[in-house]
Amino acid sequence: MSNDSKQAIHLRDYTAPDFLIDETHLNFQLAEAATTVNARLVLRRNPAGRPDAALVLDGQGLDTRRLSLDGKLLGTGDYRIEDDKLHLLLPLPEKFELESVVLIKPQLNTALEGLYKSRHMFCTQCEAEGFRRITWYLDRPDVMSLFTVTILAEEKRYPVLLSNGNLVDSGKLSNGMHWVTWKDPFRKPCYLFALVAGDLKYVEDYFTTKSGRRVTLRIYVEEKDLAKCSHAMSSLKRAMAWDEKAYGREYDLDIYMIVAVDDFNMGAMENKGLNIFNTSCVLARAEITTDKGFQRVEAVVAHEYFHNWSGNRVTCRDWFQLSLKEGFTVFRDSQFSAEMNSPTVKRIEEVSLLRTVQFAEDAGPMAHPVQPQSYMEISNFYTPTVYEKGAEVVRMLHCLLGPVTFRAATDLYFARHDGQAVTIEEFVGAMETASGRDLQQFRRWYTQAGTPVLKVRGDYDAAVQTYTLTVQQSCPPTPEAEQKEPFHIPLAIGLLGDAGSLALHLRDAPDFDSADNTQRVLEVTQREQQFVFEQVREKPVPSLLRGFSAPVRLEYPYTRDELAFLMSRDSDGFNRWDAAQQLGVSVLQELVVAVLQQRPLELDPKMVAAYRVLLQDETLDPAMVALMLELPGELYLAEEAEVVHAGAIHEARQFARKTLARELRREMHAVYLRHSPGPGAYQPIAEAIASRSLKNTTLSYLMLLHDKDLMQLCLDQYNNAANMTDASASLQALLNCEADFVAPVRDKALRIFYRRWQHEPLAVNLWLQLQATCHLPGALARVQALLQHEAFDIRNPNKVRAVIGAFCGQNPVHFHAADGSGYAFLADKVIELDAINPQIAARLLTPLTRWRKQPPAQQLQMKEQLQRILLCGKLSPDVFEVVCKSVA
Ligand code: BES
Ligand code: ZN
Repeated sequence: MSNDSKQAIHLRDYTAPDFLIDETHLNFQLAEAATTVNARLVLRRNPAGRPDAALVLDGQGLDTRRLSLDGKLLGTGDYRIEDDKLHLLLPLPEKFELESVVLIKPQLNTALEGLYKSRHMFCTQCEAEGFRRITWYLDRPDVMSLFTVTILAEEKRYPVLLSNGNLVDSGKLSNGMHWVTWKDPFRKPCYLFALVAGDLKYVEDYFTTKSGRRVTLRIYVEEKDLAKCSHAMSSLKRAMAWDEKAYGREYDLDIYMIVAVDDFNMGAMENKGLNIFNTSCVLARAEITTDKGFQRVEAVVAHEYFHNWSGNRVTCRDWFQLSLKEGFTVFRDSQFSAEMNSPTVKRIEEVSLLRTVQFAEDAGPMAHPVQPQSYMEISNFYTPTVYEKGAEVVRMLHCLLGPVTFRAATDLYFARHDGQAVTIEEFVGAMETASGRDLQQFRRWYTQAGTPVLKVRGDYDAAVQTYTLTVQQSCPPTPEAEQKEPFHIPLAIGLLGDAGSLALHLRDAPDFDSADNTQRVLEVTQREQQFVFEQVREKPVPSLLRGFSAPVRLEYPYTRDELAFLMSRDSDGFNRWDAAQQLGVSVLQELVVAVLQQRPLELDPKMVAAYRVLLQDETLDPAMVALMLELPGELYLAEEAEVVHAGAIHEARQFARKTLARELRREMHAVYLRHSPGPGAYQPIAEAIASRSLKNTTLSYLMLLHDKDLMQLCLDQYNNAANMTDASASLQALLNCEADFVAPVRDKALRIFYRRWQHEPLAVNLWLQLQATCHLPGALARVQALLQHEAFDIRNPNKVRAVIGAFCGQNPVHFHAADGSGYAFLADKVIELDAINPQIAARLLTPLTRWRKQPPAQQLQMKEQLQRILLCGKLSPDVFEVVCKSVA
């Protein structure tokens, strides 16, 4: 389809479907040259649709061989195919059957949408609009149907044939072919359809639900990966148990299947009863998977499982409601991961992601509300705003309602809407009914884009012993709106005195009678508002936005001493970390200015002192210490800056890291040794992960000292590592070490790694990523060389993300090289990839769209490259939409 025929779709134009599909009977004949899809649809007019509307079906790239209506073959005058639509031109009865036969070529499908091949296996990806590449259909989530699927294929190549629901029949033919029939007892939209065929093996386990039903659990993988499934399997069982306990949700089919594929655009997909996963989100084994990797598997397995209720049983009316399932499910998986691991660490990771990625989106050309008002290509709207900010909005509801009422509200939501395709409005409606609260103003979180700014002032009146917080809120303009109405913001706070947390007596509000009267959630609803605390006997330091109770930018004029105080004394773990971050931001911003003005650099001794306290306190949680020792990242500093000087940010941060390493060498070395592994097998549990993370954080500091003994320490860790967490951390430290004497060691370590793991794609991807994010000079040349390496394949999204995505997104100092080479590189790759996989091409483009905060010369270069992409002609709607909105 050409660019101009792709129109923007608006939420306000939604109308109910004119037809419903009660039954969908699919018949696949899989073959190497072409696959035949026979679809028999049982249709009827929707009483809620337009009474005499014509039937128009969606289809893309289908070679239509036959169409018949109620058994009667259709002639060319009976229908018209145009612009990916099939229009039926004859009068239609109330109820009828439409049968179609189409040919498709999965083996040539590099977009990885619809039916495609990953290595030797057939698989599908239908969300959001991939089903139309399989057969003519009403490809919209509010059309829910009962699916029966028959698959016919060569038995030798494709011994395993899977689809949704239950296996109801199967048989063999004399010519080496075999077939199966699957029937899904639950009505579902076609985006949840899945098919898999291949030479797969499985691991099997069971889960008994709370009502006593025994569910078979299977993870299907290639034989070589069978030993990497146990973490996913145990995660699945934990997720199933947790959803029963936390949300009262029970699984509803007799079998739950997960299939791992190498070529996948996203992380995983929640197809009913048959999840399809990127291998990177299901396989895990200590030698090849990092701690982060283990936690990712646990989180993604849980996320897709939780969709069975939040997404499948209750689904979305249209794609503007995407956050209804994704925001809510991310919130659910985040609660789950918090409980399985360390809640504070989990929260810190979420907030870091939100601040770097989502805040940047809100400030860029693709900014949109959690519920977008319009889109050209829906694939472009699986964004940090819909996912992460969407989850924050649900978290705020949880905070405002409290856990008990929130649970009552979700129970009500699931009961009211089971089997329906609904809107975000229905979700908020259930929250309102269950709580009796008016959430009218709260709804703005869904409809207004932009990151609100909370400006807070604190005034202590010693004479009357009151402390007054003055809170002002504002929100910058975004593409969809100049002016914003005030948000309803839960602001969790505490006040700290010399001896610790103070009891809170908020004027005009009852005191809590509960044990903890030292924390309150203030509800900010006005543009400016005051909260007066009484009986405050000393001038407090406020601890604001505890646990990051709302996705806002907080501005409060803390002094560095106050931040250091909060860092060690706040009772809220998240805020202790955030105080460290803000101290880091303040110190680093000052250094960036010094770099730009070519003044000598000097690190504030307060920073060194605060870090020394952290390193010396053995009672602290090592995971927290590791996180607090990590200075704010370059991407967060860019986010906090008005004009981003990537080079100066990098230089300032490196200087601070080196100085800290020099000043605290003894302390860091001691911590490193204290957390060096004793005997005992690898375990991906919070305590062990914490210890490894602190050890590896100190190692990366120590390697900045260019000391041969310390290099040996690092090399020993690399050579003796029994797990990928320790191996990759030491390899990364070696790669990024500028000392000349490290160079030969570095190259050797890289070679050893590759030779050892070349047959493990996931380990190789890590190897690629570590090199692509290396900040030593010559990064682009190294990346260009990696693209020529035998391990690289531009058709595999994981490889593209590991090399191109990592370089452009996580190596800012080289991506923003002054000569513009990083931008030209990205534009080249986007153009090349757009012909192969538009979704991945469009995603990859993101860093180039963020030109607004760059210095003028960079802006010009970035816009030039965007123009070059635009002018190259034959763009996909995906890339076209992003480029258009970015140059506008
Ligand atoms: N439904 C999505 C996967 C998806 C999105 C497939 C868009 C195709 C197009 C799935 O539930 C999901 O959200 N997966 C995330 C991981 C999750 C833990 C947030 C992903 O794939 O990144
Ligand atoms: Zn999801």
